Amino acid sequence: MARLENKVAVVTGSGAGMGEGMARLFASEGARVVVSDRDEAAAQSVAASIVADGGEAIAVRADVGVEEECRALIDRAVEHYGRIDILVNNVGLSRRGTIETTSVDDWELVFRVNVRSAFLCMQQAVKYMKEQGGGSIVNIGSVNAYIGEPKLMAYSASKGAMQTLSRNTASYLNRYRIRVNQLNVGWTLTPNEHRVKVEEEGKGENWLDEAVRTRPWGRLLLPRDIAYAALYLASDESECITGSVLDLEQHPIGAPPNW
Ligand SMILES: NC(=O)c1ccc[n+]([C@@H]2O[C@H](COP(=O)([O-])OP(=O)(O)OC[C@H]3O[C@@H](n4cnc5c(N)ncnc54)[C@H](O)[C@@H]3O)[C@@H](O)[C@H]2O)c1
Repeated sequence: MARLENKVAVVTGSGAGMGEGMARLFASEGARVVVSDRDEAAAQSVAASIVADGGEAIAVRADVGVEEECRALIDRAVEHYGRIDILVNNVGLSRRGTIETTSVDDWELVFRVNVRSAFLCMQQAVKYMKEQGGGSIVNIGSVNAYIGEPKLMAYSASKGAMQTLSRNTASYLNRYRIRVNQLNVGWTLTPNEHRVKVEEEGKGENWLDEAVRTRPWGRLLLPRDIAYAALYLASDESECITGSVLDLEQHPIGAPPNW
């Protein structure tokens, strides 16, 4: 039996990157997947390709930075598939800035998109999961919650807040058999990560060669590395596991890559 047979999963920001990886893997394991993204064409293309591969998926456009769109996304999923078993709060953005240079606007944007969206989507999903008798929520954090990367101040703080949100809600939602777990992700190669390096940071097309030189496994993490961990937490294989925080990195957090 497929690992997500009969499950309905909503993955935010699954038009690209690791969200796309999760949507594809979940569908290949039998889930009916709501591919959601603020980029409608990207969501549609991922959903269509899942369907072409024999899976089941719909695309729903939603900008999770907008309160009403978070609610509408979850409602639409339940309207279409009749239930919601899995919610992955995957969307996250960063703005460069230290404690001295971060503007209030950037701080608010980062917290709105990274943390408030998870609060809103969870609040809405919990209404349905409670009626169904359970569900699994996976929140995507970052190792930045622990490590001091001075120029990503607001982002790091938002991922720390996400972790507290996950653990706090996990302890409350136990009573409804709703599980909440968090994946703290390390540096992962996605199309957007490549674009940022080349276009925003001015690195050459070959930046990756240098980046992987000190990586123990000779590569960065890839969306599939994250998707396999999310699959375990989303599935009934982890049916008694809640409030956990799993660090997905190639070396112990805090240690340089090759120690
Ligand atoms: N890539 C990394 O190295 C890395 C490392 C640690 C943590 N993370 C976290 O992992 C998650 C996914 O990262 P990624 O690199 O795959 O993302 P990404 O930047 O590739 O974006 C994935 C998708 O999210 C969509 N999106 C962006 N803002 C949105 C919004 N407001 N509403 C709806 N959709 C939106 C984009 O259109 C895109 O299709 C994020 O929470 C990120 O903070 C990433």
